Amino acid sequence: MKLVAGNSNRPLAEAISTYLNAPLTKCIVRRFADMEIFVEVQENVRGEDVFVIQSTSAPANDHLMELLIIIDALKRASARRITAVIPYFGYARQDRKPGPRTPISAKLVANMIVRAGADRVLTLDLHAGQIQGFFDIPTDNLFAAPLMVDDIRKVFPKDNLMVVSPDVGGVVRARGLAKRIDAPLAIVDKRRERPGDSEVMNVIGDVSGRSCILIDDIVDSGGTLINAADALLDKGAKLVTGYISHGVLSGGAVARIISSRLKELVITDSILPSESVINAHNIRVLPSAPLLGEAVARTAEEKSVSSLFY
Ligand code: R5P
Repeated sequence: MKLVAGNSNRPLAEAISTYLNAPLTKCIVRRFADMEIFVEVQENVRGEDVFVIQSTSAPANDHLMELLIIIDALKRASARRITAVIPYFGYARQDRKPGPRTPISAKLVANMIVRAGADRVLTLDLHAGQIQGFFDIPTDNLFAAPLMVDDIRKVFPKDNLMVVSPDVGGVVRARGLAKRIDAPLAIVDKRRERPGDSEVMNVIGDVSGRSCILIDDIVDSGGTLINAADALLDKGAKLVTGYISHGVLSGGAVARIISSRLKELVITDSILPSESVINAHNIRVLPSAPLLGEAVARTAEEKSVSSLFY
């Protein structure tokens, strides 16, 4: 097995390499003066089972191009099998046409990865499970839920827990976590009664006195999470903690989280945490390398990956 890392999240690639006790393959990914990307794999990979670790996080276009060019270099170097390990798959939210004459960019990106020469994809908490079908190659979609469950059991040993989906679209994900920790489920339902009216947050379920776990795949501006947390606290919740797989946290999101009423936001390191994330008093990062590393090992050994979750 060979592990190759792009530049999107070097510490995560190193942690996966440590987990697997396998060094990262020497590979230069650098820029020409005009910012074009150049890749040189500096070890023989002929006939090897190669895993390329690269999140397509911001700057998404640069990181995506790096991934494509690394795959191309490996293909031309006669790697036997190339698995794109994409802990955070950017563009995933563009998975359908929201209106006429708009793209389905998630499908376009999937096509590009396949056409570049990837043989498999390994990813974590896709925005929608169906995106697996955008890749016409085997695609394993891992769940961060086991990492979250372990953490919840440590942080809330005896609390009166309630799992909450911040919107109707996230109910399946929230129900999965609620089952795992044997807690009831509530839903925040955002409604705009009339065009121009502001959105009303209705909480479905009795959250009063409960420690609420808000679960979602992405925290980007923080708006969804913070508004849902406010709605729950206004309905008498004791506290609200967010467990979110991918900390996109763009713009002023970190400052918004810091000054919010959230007790804590727990994310994984699928996206490289910025300094401000690391220094925020109410944001904590769970390491995903053991999960990703184990999935890589099982893929290399042709063992079941799904059994990691049952
Ligand atoms: C939306 O469907 C996603 O699951 C997230 O809820 C959304 O991307 C969060 O974005 P923001 O933090 O900007 O509200």
